[in-house]
Amino acid sequence: MPTRLVEKVSEMTELARELPRPVGLVPTMGALHEGHMSLIRRCREECATTVASIFVNPTQFGPGEDLEHYPRDLEADLEKCREAGVNVVFAPSAEEMYPAGFSSAIEVGGVTNVMCGLTRPGHFRGVTTVVCKLFNTVRPDRAYFGQKDAQQLVVVKRMAGDLNMQVEIVRVPIVREPDGLAVSSRNAYLSPEERKDALALRRALEHFRGRVVEGERDPLKLIGEMGRMIDGVESARLDYIVVVDPETLEDVDPVEGRAMAALAVRVGSTRLIDNEVVG
Ligand code: PAJ
Repeated sequence: MPTRLVEKVSEMTELARELPRPVGLVPTMGALHEGHMSLIRRCREECATTVASIFVNPTQFGPGEDLEHYPRDLEADLEKCREAGVNVVFAPSAEEMYPAGFSSAIEVGGVTNVMCGLTRPGHFRGVTTVVCKLFNTVRPDRAYFGQKDAQQLVVVKRMAGDLNMQVEIVRVPIVREPDGLAVSSRNAYLSPEERKDALALRRALEHFRGRVVEGERDPLKLIGEMGRMIDGVESARLDYIVVVDPETLEDVDPVEGRAMAALAVRVGSTRLIDNEVVG
């Protein structure tokens, strides 16, 4: 079956009734890269139908964030989806998703009040609202999310569980560049110098893993050491570093069992996130 492009919510709703099940959904904002493609490949392996959505969701960008500059290239994305065997690409316009009079939102508490939730107010509200709309339109059996956005994954899982959405949320590991930088659409904003500095995130997380393996159990010590590694880089400004339970995002102290170090760092004007789970 050739890849079908759907741009209308009504057409996607109709089509969803007849797609072979299980249906898998891979929600994206486009500018597809290897991270997105690994989600698509996993979905293809596990589902009879693969739907990829491409929608740069305005409601999850704050004032002064990169909504206007966010990379958009539907033709290139479609080609990648065709090559990867995606069955349906759902690429609605903003007016299609948020018509005049739109006034609802999904608000998840708790897990949105830490990490990126503190520095990007309203961000997760935008994410959960659009993901809920995508679920209601595509009605997938499974939806695929990357560990790269670890908090997003926890928030979406919380929403799906709390609201009895009939969808299984599947976690896909982080895809990295050969030098270890997590693949991201925003890496394109980095100058060659900043691109080198961006490796500080990886180095800090590798340091975290090494120190935990050595037996360090004090989260504050680990956070301090990672923080100094970031502060030592000229173009880098730390947003946050946490050591938390990867399922609940609650602080862990002492560091025992499964623990995740997660950080957000501004390199020049580009905000990057990454994380590492141990145990
Ligand atoms: P976007 O940033 O395009 O990411 C889409 C999906 O790809 C997310 O689940 C993200 O975690 C995953 N992803 C991105 N880079 C990855 C990498 N290097 N390795 C593994 N997975 C990676 O996240 C969003 O869009 C939006 O918030 C969305 C969920 C589509 C809602 O608008």
